[in-house]
Amino acid sequence: MVAQSLFPTLAPTIEWRDGDLLLLDQTRLPHEIVVEHVADAAAVWRAIHELRVRGAPAIGVAAAYGLCVAMQDARDLPLTQFRAELERRAGWLDTARPTAVNLSWGLRRMLQCARACNASDSKALYEALVDEAKQIHAEDQALCEGIGMHGLPLIEPGSGVLTHCNAGALATTGLGTATAPIYAAHREGIVFKVFADETRPLLQGARLTVFELQQAGVDVTLIVDSAAASIMSHGLVDLVIVGTDRVAANGDFANKIGTLSVAIAANYYGIPFYVACPSSTLDFRTPTGAQIEIEERREEEVTSLAGQPIAPRAINARNPAFDVTPHELVTGFITERGIVKAPFERSLRGFFAAEGNAA
Ligand code: MRU
Repeated sequence: MVAQSLFPTLAPTIEWRDGDLLLLDQTRLPHEIVVEHVADAAAVWRAIHELRVRGAPAIGVAAAYGLCVAMQDARDLPLTQFRAELERRAGWLDTARPTAVNLSWGLRRMLQCARACNASDSKALYEALVDEAKQIHAEDQALCEGIGMHGLPLIEPGSGVLTHCNAGALATTGLGTATAPIYAAHREGIVFKVFADETRPLLQGARLTVFELQQAGVDVTLIVDSAAASIMSHGLVDLVIVGTDRVAANGDFANKIGTLSVAIAANYYGIPFYVACPSSTLDFRTPTGAQIEIEERREEEVTSLAGQPIAPRAINARNPAFDVTPHELVTGFITERGIVKAPFERSLRGFFAAEGNAA
């Protein structure tokens, strides 16, 4: 199932066209479809930092292509200097956002490729890096397909599925992670409902998730974040599927702020709570959720809404962009290789022992 066919009028999240990196600007959705040509290293860093490209898997793919863009003006340098610049510029791109491990994962994959490559000059090494970025891009699409296939049996006819933030096609270069089983079930003709939390402060649920699900013809209903527990209490939710930005070795995971509240409410009402997780989002180097760095963003995102101030001037505000949900609240991780159940410390490593994020 090709994601593009679900959204015929939407540009791809990320496109590499003849050496140019094109990003669908997600800050403008759903009302404007704007594709940005990202032409240098600073523009790549800003596009990630300012969430024009966002969602953990999409950030990983954008970082890989972005490193190629960042190295375009270095192709005439002697090889040793090119290699030194590559390490330096990758390190700098890695500072664009801290929580999604896919950023450092994608950059590390690129550096590993460069270190293993015995190219004779900088141009040849640059071409090898472009090929590696294309490979990461293709793998991302395949990971989404796998998650869709393994998550499909969880969605029963007539059921209600709740999701938070956007772990959809827009957050990846394929079918999304949390949305992949939803698209797979929809394709099978299963009739079910999706509830999407709006996801304050930046409204990824209201602007992106309901937009893409609606485009694909899925029955989706938008709710404010604070309605999630109430909707559950009325028996309307049979399953929760969320995405993740980083899964620690013990199964604690980070996702968009508000995910923890959803997990606690699902647990209270006995609703299965699944996390869609491609192997690129596993981080065995981080033992538990306590070590995951949480991005703290500008207070203005909380004190205003769609650019309009909504709180008194000079009010104190906090804006953690992510929270950590403890593994005890997770029913299972839907991965491209199958559903992983507790005890996660052992089962995650067992499934993915050979992957690059293994410690
Ligand atoms: O701040 P964002 O929009 O990048 O946050 C995105 C999320 O939290 C997603 O749920 C997560 O990255 C998983 S995307 C498949």
